[in-house]
Amino acid sequence: MASPPKTVLTVSPEEERAIRDAVRGADLATLGPGRVLASQAHVAGVFDLLADPAVSEPIYALPRPLTEASVAAWIAEAEALHARGEVLLILNTVADGTIMGYSRISVWPDRSAAELGGALRASLQNSGAGGAGAAHTIGWIFETLKVRLICLTAALDNVRSAKLIDRMGFVRMGERESIRPDGSVRRSLYWEMTREAWVERSR
Ligand SMILES: CC(C)(COP(=O)(O)OP(=O)(O)OC[C@H]1O[C@@H](n2cnc3c(N)ncnc32)[C@H](O)[C@@H]1OP(=O)(O)O)[C@@H](O)C(=O)NCCC(=O)NCCS
Repeated sequence: MASPPKTVLTVSPEEERAIRDAVRGADLATLGPGRVLASQAHVAGVFDLLADPAVSEPIYALPRPLTEASVAAWIAEAEALHARGEVLLILNTVADGTIMGYSRISVWPDRSAAELGGALRASLQNSGAGGAGAAHTIGWIFETLKVRLICLTAALDNVRSAKLIDRMGFVRMGERESIRPDGSVRRSLYWEMTREAWVERSR
């Protein structure tokens, strides 16, 4: 289960409503080619992506145990939360339909905040694609979903994620306990970035 940020922002009902509408109405074509919202049609493809431990092992929020049924339930949950304006589960597909990666954006409209998690196929890892993609997606979240705060977590030993998150200018704010779907706890490094700081960095 994703947890909202440590920092608590005060949010008006109007701002909360605007964020929910933005999540429900987000045009994924503006994020990039081949981006689609996950649906039940993608269960086998997502299972194929996540079955590789190099893709799924570092991520606390994925279904456990990983089966086609648990993936189907995970996608169904994301679809229901999308309808409430609280989640975008985005797949990165190529022409033959293969899923090359995913991003799950958890949104707390009443906190004007979001969290991003995701992974790339092993064949795309370690060549800069993750770093470039993460920065692009963070900018898209601030601009498109209208939140004012983004938090990120990574396992204590996830060197690549920590490097790319530090490089984007996120501020380290200690550690937190991330709860896996099976109830077990994973210690995580924890970062935040405000929209103001992101805009300032992007100038
Ligand atoms: C995490 C992930 C998205 C990063 O994408 P990537 O394309 O592999 O990473 P990049 O090539 O952009 O490299 C990221 C950073 O790690 C560094 N790095 C890459 N391989 C490394 C290695 N084996 N050891 C140490 N550092 C490494 C890069 O130099 C880069 O640092 P820099 O920004 O300071 O130059 C991708 O590896 C992935 O999907 N991993 C599995 C799932 C996962 O961990 N998801 C994130 C959960 S928070």
